[in-house]
Amino acid sequence: MKILGIESSCDETAAAVVRDGREILSNVVASQVDLHRKYGGVVPELASRKHVEAILPVVDEALGRAGESLETIDAIAVTQGPGLVGSLLVGLAVGKSLAYVRNLPWVGVNHIYGHVAAMFLSSGDALRFPFIALVVSGGHTSLFRVSSPTQMTLLGRTLDDAAGEAFDKVAKFMGLGYPGGVVIDRLAREGNPSAVCFPRALLDANSLNFSFSGLKTAVLNYLKEFTGEFSPSQIRDIAASFQEAVVDTLAAKVMRAARQEGVKLVTLVGGVACNTRLREKVAREGEGAGVAVLFPPPSLCTDNAAMVAAAGYHFLRDGRRGDLSLNAYSRFSTQPI
Ligand code: KG4
Ligand code: ZN
Repeated sequence: MKILGIESSCDETAAAVVRDGREILSNVVASQVDLHRKYGGVVPELASRKHVEAILPVVDEALGRAGESLETIDAIAVTQGPGLVGSLLVGLAVGKSLAYVRNLPWVGVNHIYGHVAAMFLSSGDALRFPFIALVVSGGHTSLFRVSSPTQMTLLGRTLDDAAGEAFDKVAKFMGLGYPGGVVIDRLAREGNPSAVCFPRALLDANSLNFSFSGLKTAVLNYLKEFTGEFSPSQIRDIAASFQEAVVDTLAAKVMRAARQEGVKLVTLVGGVACNTRLREKVAREGEGAGVAVLFPPPSLCTDNAAMVAAAGYHFLRDGRRGDLSLNAYSRFSTQPI
């Protein structure tokens, strides 16, 4: 089954063709990052308008690169939510319309399931159910027990900011540019992670929830209290210390989830799963605990449509179908479609 995937939940306009939920035939992503950079974050109305301009050329390119057309694909999968509602509506309207005119089956996909489905594209036979998935991105920080390609149980989630949002805000306070995660990752490699002791929230008891807003404020206060200019090495130390606080919490919770659930495989997905220190730390802790650790390549961690097609494949095989009344949802939901 060849599925056209469409993703437009935030600031990436993306389309992909995936065969049988595993094999990527094309994966096209048009990033809006240059458009939003001068505002230091995504401006929802600008994002929606840019999606309108980009979506049809991106779909055409994805079909063309795969050597397919609307006549040869078998189904369509579109991100339904959560995300920016204006952005979601663009992809959803296009997906529905193409499915309607070609009389193709289609499904709406939960973006968070999409991130998890990136694992189906990248891990081959190493992926066994059940596994723990840490979905960690600019919009989400959640832990799931994944029992099958269409069944996930929420174990914990952030009570305030997502980890990626904290990376982006801290980078903004420090004048490091946007998006901040990748810059902090790079600077932190040469910094001292123990230079400043920033708080690690909710590490107590058995909680699998997260909180990053206190950490964000702690970094802001630390920066404000300092009079004078930071040296480049101080900047690297602050970046490394902040990153270490985020990574410590994420690593501790994902390993705790594996322990509590008696599961021997954990996966890291979403944009923040590109983080070098996070990958390194969870891999090391996994090794110590006899738990396997897998993550997709960076191009499948950040938003893309191949993951949406991969998730859609399993829902379509389960017999689920979207209809024309299906609408976007903007808020967090564990609803599969
Ligand atoms: O998955 P994604 O593309 O979009 C959402 O669904 O939110 O994730 C984007 C987020 C941004 O916050 C970005 O700063 C963060 O992922 N990110 C990173 C790294 N690369 C991207 N955060 C930490 N380290 C990185 N290397
Ligand atoms: Zn995402």
